[in-house]
Amino acid sequence: MRAGGPIASGRAGRAADEAAPLAGGQLARTSSADWRLRRRPLGTLESMRVGILTGGGDCPGLNAVIRAVVRVGRERFGHEHVGLRRGWKGLLEQDAVTLDEAAVSGILHVGGTILGSSRTNPFKDPGGGERCVEAARELALDALVAIGGEDTLGVARRLYEEHGLATVGVPKTIDNDLSGTDYTFGFWTAVQIATEAIDRLHTTAASHDRVMVVEVMGRHVGWIALQAGVAGGADAIVIPERPMTAERVAEHVKARAARGKGFSIVVISEGVDLGDEGEEAGVDQFGHRQLAKVGVGERLGARLADLTGFDTRVTVLGHVQRGGTPTAFDRVLATGYGTRAAELIGEGAFGRMAALRGDAIVDVPLAEAVADLKRVPDHLYEAAEALFGAHGEAVPGT
Ligand code: F6P
Repeated sequence: MRAGGPIASGRAGRAADEAAPLAGGQLARTSSADWRLRRRPLGTLESMRVGILTGGGDCPGLNAVIRAVVRVGRERFGHEHVGLRRGWKGLLEQDAVTLDEAAVSGILHVGGTILGSSRTNPFKDPGGGERCVEAARELALDALVAIGGEDTLGVARRLYEEHGLATVGVPKTIDNDLSGTDYTFGFWTAVQIATEAIDRLHTTAASHDRVMVVEVMGRHVGWIALQAGVAGGADAIVIPERPMTAERVAEHVKARAARGKGFSIVVISEGVDLGDEGEEAGVDQFGHRQLAKVGVGERLGARLADLTGFDTRVTVLGHVQRGGTPTAFDRVLATGYGTRAAELIGEGAFGRMAALRGDAIVDVPLAEAVADLKRVPDHLYEAAEALFGAHGEAVPGT
């Protein structure tokens, strides 16, 4: 079977033409019947068959990781690869495609994920772990690379610790909230996108003497807001770790106006708790609080207009931050992570995650990676505060 050829069903009873192509659409379904003939115990190190999945929200660089896992695994260790479509859902449903040289060609710079993604949590229902193990056996997988954030890697950790599945993790999320690594891939691309947006808002804000509120992603942490705010010269940065009240932001904006600065740029993370009556929208499959239907940017903008009387506009960047081509840094980082993941499998070092420490790609236990959310430390926020003059000092040139 070759990539780009007719899609053949790998699942019993599913007609070939039922297969829904994902982005790229050229992946060939894998025949699990062939694999069963070659079934080996999980964790066998020679000629391994490696599953790869991408879970949770997508982010730029996912394809670069997939490509590196496949290329390095084939070249250096003789691994074979299959992609599981749409995260853990693909494992549970044995929805697999062949990932050979042709399948990963031309995808390095492409955003999104050729495998698709979902937020399916196999442990949501009793027996989910056992069903994953059974599916891995059916698909004759020797090891599995899970590319994802806290939730996806938490599942990989449990499958390894509680069920003995040979899993390896790669840290993905634009939010950069995974401990165990200095940066997740995709983060700096999102910062770049947000910075460019802030630059554009700056000129129109100055032309009209307006307050511009820019809401960026960051459900639990303020990394994108902090770094894009610093890079874009924001006049206030509001993050979940150090939430400012609307009153305090309004005072700051008014103080700027008193100094002759008729416009202000306020960057806020979507996950900030303003302490107001934000409407809650329930919890997801992993039990995480979902965001309010009327986002915090809109709510802050309305409050600032009331409190200052200044003309105020709100821009919610949303999923624009997750789309499109990764920056050069993220392509290199993602490639390094994919390379390390292939090496971990080659070395039989399971239950571990590729990580960045300084300028070195290392690996850490999955348990460490998902133990805590990585929050913006006080000293970094205070350094940014000094730049935007949160304490009312004159800030020349802003
Ligand atoms: O987890 C990353 C993230 O980008 C969050 O910042 C954001 O709240 C979430 O994904 C949104 O994801 P979706 O709309 O795909 O559920």
